[in-house]
Order: sequence, then structure tokens, then C-alpha cells
Amino acid sequence: MTYIKKLADHVDKEVTLKGWVYNFRSSGSLVFIEMRDGTGITQCVVAKDDVSEYVWEAATSLKQESSLEVVGTVKADERSIGGHEIHVSNVKVHQVAENYPITPKEHGVEFLMNNRHLWLRSQKQWAAMRVRNEIIYAIHTFFQERDFVQMDSPIFTGNAAEGSTTLFETDYFEDKAYLAQTGQLYGEAMAMAHGLIYTFGPTFRAEKSKTRRHLTEFWMIEPEMAYYDLDMNMDLAEDMIKAIVSTVLEKRKDELEILERDTSSLEKTATEPFERMTYDEAVKILKSDETADMLDEMAESRRQEQVDLEKEWEEIKKEHGSAKKWRKAQIDQRIKEISARIDQIEEDLRNIPGWKESARNFEWGNDLGGSDETVLMMQYDVPLIVTHWPAEIKAFYMKRDDTNKLALGMDVLAPEGYGEIIGGSQREDDLEVMEERIKEEGLDKEVFEWYLDLRRFGSVPHSGYGLGLERTVAWVCGLSHVRETIPFPRMMGRLTP
Ligand code: 4AD
Ligand code: MG
Repeated sequence: MTYIKKLADHVDKEVTLKGWVYNFRSSGSLVFIEMRDGTGITQCVVAKDDVSEYVWEAATSLKQESSLEVVGTVKADERSIGGHEIHVSNVKVHQVAENYPITPKEHGVEFLMNNRHLWLRSQKQWAAMRVRNEIIYAIHTFFQERDFVQMDSPIFTGNAAEGSTTLFETDYFEDKAYLAQTGQLYGEAMAMAHGLIYTFGPTFRAEKSKTRRHLTEFWMIEPEMAYYDLDMNMDLAEDMIKAIVSTVLEKRKDELEILERDTSSLEKTATEPFERMTYDEAVKILKSDETADMLDEMAESRRQEQVDLEKEWEEIKKEHGSAKKWRKAQIDQRIKEISARIDQIEEDLRNIPGWKESARNFEWGNDLGGSDETVLMMQYDVPLIVTHWPAEIKAFYMKRDDTNKLALGMDVLAPEGYGEIIGGSQREDDLEVMEERIKEEGLDKEVFEWYLDLRRFGSVPHSGYGLGLERTVAWVCGLSHVRETIPFPRMMGRLTP
């Protein structure tokens, strides 16, 4: 058996491929099967004259997603998908699929999400999962090469770390347990044993809002480093993101192409220094006239683009009636693209006034909302690290600066409107200050006694951060919603499939 990805090694030779029918058409005495096998897609051509009657029957009985085995000769063919074509001599059908619900026509998101178990087979979904896999591998490689030890933090926990409003609670024998919102507190304990560690695991938050950035179950990578201050923390995060992005650019070109990802900003991210500024500076930019002007200009250029697209639409629609078959297909494709783009433009135009108002009226001391991050990150081609946050809006474990007003936290925001992908900080390492914080936050000191021990026995300056895997995948793939970045997303209102 040969995999489609390896066809280049078998040109002019006979191969056996095993997979599924991705697409299928017949014309007279030829059948064209676009076959997928998990590693890629290739076109198989069955000519009636070249095969037995039995095989011809089998080939013409196929339907989308039928499973089959094909024997044929590999021909190099530039015009063909993947650069090869299979001239088929034999076909063995394993199962003729029932009418497959996901057809090449447009489907609504709810329908696709209800069929997620099948939707995973579609090209773009396939490509996104390959990129996800590459990112996971790049993260492990990055940390392992730097002698970080990967350690697992528990999923059942007895204490909240990221606020009590998003806790999932569950029975734990006679007791209550929570699903971990973060592995950080355990990460800190492990860093005191091993120096440099990272966790890589699922985390859970009862997010009641439906946004394109929030899941209730997501994967987080949390390095924790003894003797690291905020600057070292930032440098590590920057190096890690550069490593992730350059690995994907190098190894997943084909997938990025399938996703129609414009990679110009990713290329800058891989090579150019990130932007860094304090919360203070970020707020000034948000409230500035320049930002308001930028949004006005954006709205204007979107409106113009919409007019141009509508004109093009009218013109190609006129042409459609008398067009040849191949051209009709081209026009249909273009119309699909135009309508998707117009939907996007209309959404932007609906959003811009609100974004503008929210940016202009932003008050110092508030957390950056999703739209504020979006507006901020329209202005940069590389990630932005925002530091020195108002202490009140950040977690109790963050160390504060000399004024005691600002937390030594850092958020890394991704460009192109993607927003926060990393949250991190230098940690408070003083026992008394930490006891005070726990009291202020109204947390139950008893369940944090073990955590306070880390400040009692050899406390050191230390730092860490958490990278959200799904948000990173969304950004790298250019996907508009995190639901397409994980095989089976969990969100409010979505527990199946
Ligand atoms: O900023 P957060 O809440 O930070 C922490 O949990 C720290 N304890 C991490 C640390 O310092 N070790 O979350 C970190 C990242 C966010 O930047 C975001 O990328 C992701 O986790 N994230 C989510 N991703 C998807 N859905 C959600 N509901 C998310 N909440 C956070
Ligand atoms: Mg955060």
C-alpha cells in the first residue's frame, strides 16, 4: 500500500491506494475519482476500455465518501491536484456510502457542527488539524531543546486560580472538586523541583458567553521558570511563538495554501521583533485620534470593496448563461468567494461603529475587551506584548511593581485582529504579600497552604505564562472561530458530537 503523500516516489510505477472518494464525476467512458487517504488527495482516472466490465461497474457505482482500494499507475501531471494522476487498472469497493450529508455546496455552521464527526474529512478542516499537530510538535521541540521538563498538572483540583465565575464544579466523593482552569499553581511547585518545566494539558472554563475566542474545554501550554523575571518571560514567549510560526511556514505550506492563508504577517512574526508596550501606552493608542481615523478609513475602504465586488458579481452573472461548462464552474466558484467576502465586509461594517466607540471611551483600569484587542491589533503585523496591568484586574498571584498599583503581567496579542493568545506574569514570591492577596481576594487560605509553602521553603523570583493552543491555531490558520481548531469543540450549548 502506498500513501498519496508519497506518490512522487512512485512515478510510472504501479501502486495500491486505500482510502475514500472525496469527489466523483463521470463523463462517457471515463470516471474521475478524487481519492483521499488521510495524507492527501489525488485524482484517479478509470477508462472503460482499460478495465474489466466488473471493475467498470464498481467504479460507476461509487458515491461520495465510499471506501475503496485502487490499483493503478502513477503519472506525473502538473495540472492535476497534488501533481499526479493515477491511471487505474483495478478498483475494489469496501463500502458504497449512503448519501453523504456534506456536499460541495454551502452549508450552515450549525449543520456542519452537528456533523463535526464527518466534517473533519473536508479539506480545510483536514488542513487545520495538520497545522494544529505541527504546532503541538513545534512546542514540544522548542521546550525539550531548551531542557524544560514536561510535567502534568492535575485536572481535578480543590482550588480556583483564575476567578470563581468560570469554575466547573463536580462531585468528588463526599467533597467538591473543580476542573482545572489552569495548571499554573502546580507548575510553580514543579518548577521549584526542576527549575524549568512546562505543562501541556486540557483546561476548563465555564464561559457563558458565546464568542469566537472562547471554548469551555481548551488546551493550554504553561511553562514555569525558576529565577526568571518578566523580561526573561517575555523573551521566552517571543522565541516560542517565532519557533511555532516558522515551523508551520516551513513544514505546512500545502495546508496553509488549502486554508487560503495570506502568510505575509506570519512571515514577519517569524523574523521581526515583537512590539512591546505597557498597558498605559496601549490605552493611549486605543483612545487616540489616529485609531479613530484608522477605523473610519477601514470602513470607507470596506464600502468601496463591497461596491467593486457587487459590480463584478453582476458582470459574471450575466456571462454565466452562455458560458462553457468549465467557465461556469469558475464563475460559480468566484461567486462563492465574493459572497463570503461580502458577508465578512457586512459584518465588519456592522462592528466598526461599536469598536470605535468602545476604543474612544475606554477607561483606564478596565480590562481590554475582545473588540479593544481587535482594534489594537489591526495596527501591527507582529504580535504585541502588553505589560504592567492595573493590579485589580489581574490574578492574585501576580507580583506587583514598586508602586503596588501595577501587576507584572504580560498578555501577548496576535496580529490581524486575533487578540490575546498568551497570559502570563512574574509571580509574587513573598510569603506575607501573598497571604495578604489571598485574604483580599476572599479566597480560602486553607486550600492554598501548600501553595504558600512554595514561599516558605526557598522562595525565588519566578515567572511563567499560558499559551492557548486553539487561539494560536486559529491565528496561524487564519480561521475566524476557535470551533474549527480542535477536533470536537466544547462550547456553551455544544456537547455533541
Ligand atoms: O490569560 P489566562 O487566563 O492565564 C492563565 O490561565 C494563567 N494561569 C497562565 C499562566 O500564567 N500559566 O489564559 C491563558 C491563555 C489565554 O491567553 C488564551 O489564549 C487561553 O489561555 N484561553 C482560552 N482559550 C480558549 N477558550 C477559553 N475560554 C480561554 N481562556 C483562556
Ligand atoms: Mg488572560
